Amino acid sequence: MEWDAKKYNTTHDFIFKYGAGLLELLPKEPKKVLDIGCGTGELTNQMAELGHVVTGIDQSVNMINQAKESYPDLTFLQEDILNLSDQIGLYDIAFSNAVFHWISDQELLLKNISEHLNPNGQLICEFGAVGNVQAIREAFGRELRMLGVSFEEPFCFTSVEDYRVLLEKNHFEVVEILEYERPTPLKGGESGLRAWMEQFYAAELGELTDDQKEKLLANMERDLKPKLWKEDHWEADYRRLRINAVKL
Ligand SMILES: C[S@@+](CC[C@H](N)C(=O)[O-])C[C@H]1O[C@@H](n2cnc3c(N)ncnc32)[C@H](O)[C@@H]1O
Repeated sequence: MEWDAKKYNTTHDFIFKYGAGLLELLPKEPKKVLDIGCGTGELTNQMAELGHVVTGIDQSVNMINQAKESYPDLTFLQEDILNLSDQIGLYDIAFSNAVFHWISDQELLLKNISEHLNPNGQLICEFGAVGNVQAIREAFGRELRMLGVSFEEPFCFTSVEDYRVLLEKNHFEVVEILEYERPTPLKGGESGLRAWMEQFYAAELGELTDDQKEKLLANMERDLKPKLWKEDHWEADYRRLRINAVKL
């Protein structure tokens, strides 16, 4: 999926704003950090300001170009974490916010991370937990089924139990792993849910006619209003998984 980096920075900036809490898990002394799926580079820059030597990687050209434009003094590379080039090197810390749930091959993801970490290197990351945006996903699936459109969930949302097993199988020792609810206000008032859908389900919505899309979004707004509309904004039912683990 390609990203609209300008829209990401203005409408979906809650992603890196919430992600800033993860920075507290970083050691105080300067480390060499790989920011996986760095997006527009906002957290990469905050880590650099804390004194770390950071390389941001992202598979999206738009995101990497925006990151380079915003922070020309930092290192950003267009790279897919599942297919890294030789220039990546070794790091003390692999950091990642709001990325892992986009990746279907979690075994390969952890293997590649482990290969680019120094001995005792740390993995600090956060992404969607099981049940993340469940109400929105269920309403979307229901509407697509009514249109006769097949729907394959693009996200991989995991539980503490399953991810602990996966980490241990891939030779990481878990320092901390937790799942938590994070109700998330969406920007844009009445149109907030649409804007969110258009960012995160762009590919699926792009398959519909304008008419189908309009009807689907209107039905979703009607059905989700009792649960997710909060006086003057939509609140998405986010759940997160936060991990701090060490390479054995
Ligand atoms: C929701 S954004 C998060 C960006 C950033 N970490 C932040 O907190 O603002 C998810 C990012 O993951 C990137 N991404 C997804 N799959 C990836 C992969 N296989 N390799 C590298 N980046 C990936 C996307 O291109 C996107 O920029």
